[in-house]
Amino acid sequence: MTPLQKLVILELICLAFGHVKTVKRNVTIGKCCALDEILTYEQKCIKSYNSSWDLKVYSNGSFVSFAGKLPPRWVVKEHLRPRCAKPVVEALENRRFVPSITGTAMIVEYDQKITPSQYCIDYNYVLFCPNNYSPEGYTSVLVKKCCGENAVYSEQNSTCVHFKNSSYNIDVGPNKTLGFGFPICGGSSFTVAGKLNQAHLLDNGSVLINS
Ligand SMILES: *[C@@H]1O[C@H](CO)[C@@H](O)[C@H](O)[C@H]1NC(C)=O
Ligand SMILES: *[C@@H]1O[C@H](CO)[C@@H](O)[C@H](O)[C@H]1NC(C)=O
Ligand SMILES: *[C@@H]1O[C@H](CO)[C@@H](O)[C@H](O)[C@H]1NC(C)=O
Ligand SMILES: *[C@@H]1O[C@H](CO)[C@@H](O)[C@H](O)[C@H]1NC(C)=O
Ligand SMILES: *[C@@H]1O[C@H](CO)[C@@H](O)[C@H](O)[C@H]1NC(C)=O
Ligand SMILES: *[C@@H]1O[C@H](CO)[C@@H](O)[C@H](O)[C@H]1NC(C)=O
Ligand SMILES: *[C@@H]1O[C@H](CO)[C@@H](O)[C@H](O)[C@H]1NC(C)=O
Repeated sequence: MTPLQKLVILELICLAFGHVKTVKRNVTIGKCCALDEILTYEQKCIKSYNSSWDLKVYSNGSFVSFAGKLPPRWVVKEHLRPRCAKPVVEALENRRFVPSITGTAMIVEYDQKITPSQYCIDYNYVLFCPNNYSPEGYTSVLVKKCCGENAVYSEQNSTCVHFKNSSYNIDVGPNKTLGFGFPICGGSSFTVAGKLNQAHLLDNGSVLINS
């Protein structure tokens, strides 16, 4: 992540949580698989006897790591998954899922706050149900705007610049959600793929660029 991306994401998180007070009550957090199993990207549980937690939890303005453990007030329940037909799976190392010490979590790309009943964690992945999935179990396709709501990408400066203009809207059409975030690349450098007004957004969220 570039420093700017980090800043924007941190800003979002601070807005979402403010100062989280220390919790007095226990909170039940689902572990998607058993404690001696790991969840895979394919949402399967496989045996693993030596996995440990490496979760950064937002607490009182900063990220806390509980040295291979989870926060003391979290009561972990094995095999407890959120109830929606198609949960989203996300690698924890991407840091797009940010839990707070109270159990409420921020899903950065969706710009949403979710409750513990809407997710389960595991050693490497998290499964969550965004707020806007339909009762038919259909999760709308997420289309991400790189720079977030009040910024645009400046080709000249190769970075996001603050820009507020309510007449600038991106209409992603029905059954899609406009979210926020950069693509996850192996390296950290992005390439401008083309101009949005010359691109065509497909139903599955893929984009066709005529260049
Ligand atoms: C939160 O941080 C502030 C300032 O860093 C500190 O004064 C306060 O005691 C902290 N609160 C808790 C609950 O840790
Ligand atoms: C909270 O959880 C801990 C174990 O994690 C347990 O010892 C304690 O009794 C629980 N407290 C309440 C109020 O349920
Ligand atoms: C974890 O277990 C696997 C297989 O049981 C083993 O190959 C690996 O070295 C172990 N890792 C650690 C850090 O102990
Ligand atoms: C690009 O950067 C230069 C120098 O920092 C600045 O003067 C200019 O306003 C920037 N352009 C945009 C579009 O923000
Ligand atoms: C916002 O965008 C509209 C349409 O492109 C333009 O006419 C207007 O000047 C812009 N306003 C600002 C503050 O940039
Ligand atoms: C949106 O999704 C609903 C439910 O799957 C479907 O009935 C509808 O036709 C879709 N609309 C468009 C424009 O694709
Ligand atoms: C989306 O649909 C297009 C055209 O049907 C296809 O080429 C593309 O691979 C699809 N993308 C994904 C992510 O499934």
